[in-house]
Amino acid sequence: MLSSVSSKFLFRTHHQWPNYYRRHHTQYVLKRTTLRALSSTAEGGGGNGGGRSVTTQTANVDAKKSNAQQQQAQIELNPPKGTRDFPPEEMRKRNWLFDSFRQTALLFGFEEFDAPVLESEALFTRKAGEEIQGQLYNFSDKGDRRVSLRPELTPSLARLIMQKGKSLAVPAKWFAIGQCWRYERMTRGRRREHYQWNMDIVGVEGVEAEVELLSAICHFFASVGITSEDVGIKVNSRKVLARVMEKAGVPEEIFANVCVVVDKIEKLPREKIIEELREVGLNEEATQSVLTCMDTNSLEGLKSLLGEEDECAKEMEKLFVLARAYGIEDWLVFDASVVRGLAYYTGVVFEGFDRRGELRAICGGGRYDGLISTLGGEYTPMVGFGFGDAVIVELLKDRGLMPEEALKTMNVDDVVFSMDESCRETAMRAASVLRKNGRRVDVVLEDGKKSKWTFKHAERVGAKRLLTIGKKEQEEGIVKVKNLETREEVDVSLDKLA
Ligand code: HAM
Repeated sequence: MLSSVSSKFLFRTHHQWPNYYRRHHTQYVLKRTTLRALSSTAEGGGGNGGGRSVTTQTANVDAKKSNAQQQQAQIELNPPKGTRDFPPEEMRKRNWLFDSFRQTALLFGFEEFDAPVLESEALFTRKAGEEIQGQLYNFSDKGDRRVSLRPELTPSLARLIMQKGKSLAVPAKWFAIGQCWRYERMTRGRRREHYQWNMDIVGVEGVEAEVELLSAICHFFASVGITSEDVGIKVNSRKVLARVMEKAGVPEEIFANVCVVVDKIEKLPREKIIEELREVGLNEEATQSVLTCMDTNSLEGLKSLLGEEDECAKEMEKLFVLARAYGIEDWLVFDASVVRGLAYYTGVVFEGFDRRGELRAICGGGRYDGLISTLGGEYTPMVGFGFGDAVIVELLKDRGLMPEEALKTMNVDDVVFSMDESCRETAMRAASVLRKNGRRVDVVLEDGKKSKWTFKHAERVGAKRLLTIGKKEQEEGIVKVKNLETREEVDVSLDKLA
């Protein structure tokens, strides 16, 4: 339709368009308005059809028109609650963080994978009363399939591992950086959409795998300037609680439910925890044993709780010995109250925390040897962690560790400026040579820009050099190259540009 519009209409504001085009434009704008706006139109439009007077109908048409004009101004500019836009200045920060995640994973010999953000809902539904279940962004698609945006990456990883079956060479060390969706109550560092860096090891039974992952997390922290005085990682094993419950005669089936309750120990008052433990089926004695267990926060305490010779106590001791070999012992704290809120963990669990106690968990993970079996596959030892992008940014900002200055501008090397329209082709040829040499080049594309504007522009994009070509330079086959740091300027022959 627009192609038939006389070009003069295109340069008028839409209020000046003839009625026909204005009507169609309004319809087009309406299609783009928010659901809220559309539903209010539907309500305003009424549904009881016949019998209305012409005056009422005309009034309705007028009301609709003015409604449509208002709606045009009402388009929501913010993204949906709890989600974020990443304009270039935010994207630079995100890329910097993700590069640090990626570099760490590659240093530890991990390979990257990804999976769809949209998965079958069944992959995420479990019955242990986990908080995450109530936070799913799930719906029926147009083919009536139940689907969900992924709230985490682990089930997708399990699906991929199952798909590979016997062809997978184990141990496999995989990492991913992916967007996850949870309908969360919004607090500092908790959003409805977040990115998670995951590192997982498939096929290793021993705590060597846990130590490798803990070491990777500490390496990442150190690489961005965070020290063991800023953060720590609480470590425990679900086997500790399992032992205690076994001794108290609690049936195995309710173990995952108990873990879900215990995970809330720092968020809820003790009485509420006790009440919830009762609700999942613990008697008074078992509840007391669980609470005593939760208060154990040293290896010595663990040994006296379970006995020196207990396998689980020995395993934890080994983990700390290996951690010392990796030089990460200062970061680790044994804490039996950490069990994590996801039902699938079976062994060692850990959680990164801010030592000032101001922020939510920075990262978390653990061993989940049973997940693939619950999805219908074979028993497969797996251990890993998830590390969100939101809390860490809060922490880095609080400690002044975001490299704000370096991320302030884009990373352009050269700005190429033709002082006159007749020099445009030479300027583009020069830019092409520079780009072939690997330099990042921004070409001033508009004619008629003044040198003053170009200098400011070069500064704004963080360029290191400004290359100017005027008629005189073009005739002599040279380019003026100004170093924007030293302010030195030299003439460089066009065929010697680098
Ligand atoms: P999770 O503890 O649910 O574990 O999440 C891991 C990390 O993701 C959290 O510590 C936090 O950094 C971040 N995170 C989670 N939810 C949000 C949110 N709503 N907003 C911002 N950040 C968030 C898992 O997801 C497991 N799948 C991790 C894992 C991998 N375990 C084994 N392998």
